[in-house]
Amino acid sequence: MVIIDELRRRYKDFSLDGILILSKLLNVDKSHIYTYGEKEVSKEVENKFIYLMEKRTKGYPIQYILKEREFMGLEFYLEDGVLVPRPDTEILVEYVIDYINRRYKGINIKALDIGIGSGAISLSVANYCKDVEVYGIDIEDIPIKVANINKEKFNLTNVSFYKGDLFQALEGLDLKFHIIMSNPPYIASEKIEGLHTTVKDFEPRVALDGGVDGLDFYRRITVESKKYLKDNGLLIYEIGFDQGEEVYNILVKEGFSNVSILKDLQGLDRVVLGIKK
Ligand SMILES: C[S@@+](CC[C@H](N)C(=O)[O-])C[C@H]1O[C@@H](n2cnc3c(N)ncnc32)[C@H](O)[C@@H]1O
Repeated sequence: MVIIDELRRRYKDFSLDGILILSKLLNVDKSHIYTYGEKEVSKEVENKFIYLMEKRTKGYPIQYILKEREFMGLEFYLEDGVLVPRPDTEILVEYVIDYINRRYKGINIKALDIGIGSGAISLSVANYCKDVEVYGIDIEDIPIKVANINKEKFNLTNVSFYKGDLFQALEGLDLKFHIIMSNPPYIASEKIEGLHTTVKDFEPRVALDGGVDGLDFYRRITVESKKYLKDNGLLIYEIGFDQGEEVYNILVKEGFSNVSILKDLQGLDRVVLGIKK
């Protein structure tokens, strides 16, 4: 038999991850691991721990091991094949929730999320704005499956997911939206190899690759969105920190008004938005 502290010491460089994984395997909180370091664990837990820590040391994301990630105060279920939601994306979601509360409080409106992943954006908006009917699109099966699991988990009935290539997923539905929001793939293809192993080797490439200059989805969605946005509808994107000016110009070129850029706490460009006239 081995004790908790001994297991933790074997992976000193991944100390916090070790604690998170052990607390998951033992079904206890982190504080238990700190407090009861002298407690023995079974051979089964020891073997599972070693297996998962070996994966982790090779760069496999901790969130896929734990199968969860907190986003906007909600505990999202996650698995391989969906992007791990990033704290940066909360900037877009907070803006949208605030916008809805300012402009559409108590009014039934429709919002669309393009590229749902785990459902981070669509489900957060649906959860905090119950009068909004939220639609989500993804081209891959796993995000649709995972987002539906999260929809059930959060008991939401005001959201539905469709599979397809951007707006093609909505063909035949005759929908117009007050808000279209997206955190699309936005990494330039040739930059993907330079990303951290945890991202480039384990997160889905289809969630990252934005074409030669990273801007393919902004160009496509901005043009196509005009058919699906109501007049005065909001188009809002998460962007890479160095894409502010280019995405701003795409919206201006396509005739959007009030185009603006939101920054994150570090002062980096994070969101571009505009209004369809
Ligand atoms: C950067 S991830 C964003 C995931 C999630 N919205 C978030 O913020 O965590 C982009 C998502 O777009 C999806 N996607 C990629 N190409 C697409 C396409 N042509 N049509 C619809 N979805 C697409 C990917 O499968 C992926 O789930």
